Amino acid sequence: MSQGRIAPHGGTLVNRLLPVDPREYAHLPALELAERSYADLELIATGVYSPLEGFLGEADYQSVVERMRLANGLPWSIPITLSVPKDQARSYRGKVRLTRNGQTLGLLEVFEQYTPDRQKEALEVYRTTDPAHPGVAALLRQGEVNLAGRVSLFRLDRGEFPQHHYTPLETRQIFHEKGWKTVVAFQTRNPIHRAHEYLHKVALEHLDGLFLNPLVGATKQDDVPARVRMEAYRVLLERYYPKERVLLGVYPAAMRYAGPREAILHAISRKNYGCTHFIVGRDHAGVGSYYGTYDAQEIFEAFAPGEIGITILKFEHTFYCRTCGSIVSARTCPHDSAHHLTLSGTRVRELLRSGAALPPEFTRPEVAEVLRAAYRDEALRGA
Ligand code: ADX
Repeated sequence: MSQGRIAPHGGTLVNRLLPVDPREYAHLPALELAERSYADLELIATGVYSPLEGFLGEADYQSVVERMRLANGLPWSIPITLSVPKDQARSYRGKVRLTRNGQTLGLLEVFEQYTPDRQKEALEVYRTTDPAHPGVAALLRQGEVNLAGRVSLFRLDRGEFPQHHYTPLETRQIFHEKGWKTVVAFQTRNPIHRAHEYLHKVALEHLDGLFLNPLVGATKQDDVPARVRMEAYRVLLERYYPKERVLLGVYPAAMRYAGPREAILHAISRKNYGCTHFIVGRDHAGVGSYYGTYDAQEIFEAFAPGEIGITILKFEHTFYCRTCGSIVSARTCPHDSAHHLTLSGTRVRELLRSGAALPPEFTRPEVAEVLRAAYRDEALRGA
């Protein structure tokens, strides 16, 4: 299969999928993976996190935390680690079976154990140690000891959305078959509103294909569940996008809400899927007010041109202007905020909870209806 036109990060697409009979490893100690660690295992094994072949050792960990690079100098922004409680660490030496719900899924060859400094990691990676930050909270919940080593995954589980679940080898092949020379990737953890659609369509004016790549791993509780979002993406694509120029594929990672640092990880992952361009708009992967509106764009300046290896398409904050009658930004619209329609995530959730429809200037009616029905069902279930 073709690796495609764009080189994977570090030069080689990692493949740690190893189809063996898990019973061969029944004698090994078992380590049960939480949802986030399982997601990381899959992302490593399928090459989305190339060049990582396993969970980071201490030298790489320190280097990533302190200078956003692996020990060999390659840009990498978020430590991908696997932790266990201190009192269990001694049972995990040599080869370890990785399990999920008790089933053996893969293997970890432990080469090192170390104790990370979580406060320092939080401060450097998340720019805060506030336990109210959902990414920091997840970090602080982890065990005290990191286990490092190469992983293998015995079988790829295509999860809840099997027809939209691709490996980088597969997306590279699809892009090649479609004849797309340039492909823009879009990360999202939200339903697609009109502002998102505008970004896609501006990009599609210049580029061959759009890889709509919603994150479907763990998100915070009040984000719209992936199953509802996937339905909303389907109705939107069906009605408003040129079919032959869009691929909908899930990004099985957990959301870290690390803002700028996560934007880099998101960009590298999409390069590994074979994309040439990546959209970074306002407050990418942000939460609350921990990050400045354009911090996630500015952070790319810390690297020399070409080091990240995927072109970043930066977009200003976009919104609907009643007078222009279209989605605009401060770069394109001369009117003041009285003419503009902007709804915060909190306001959108309030409207949905109250059973109100989202305005068509903000969200396509078909998408609004999917969201309204989902919130109504949830309200009924809760009643
Ligand atoms: S994210 O956590 O996945 O970044 P979201 O799904 O809201 O959240 O955003 C997806 C992408 O669209 C990000 O690159 C974000 O910066 C961008 N984006 C979202 N809304 C807007 C907007 N109104 N204007 C410009 N960019 C936006």
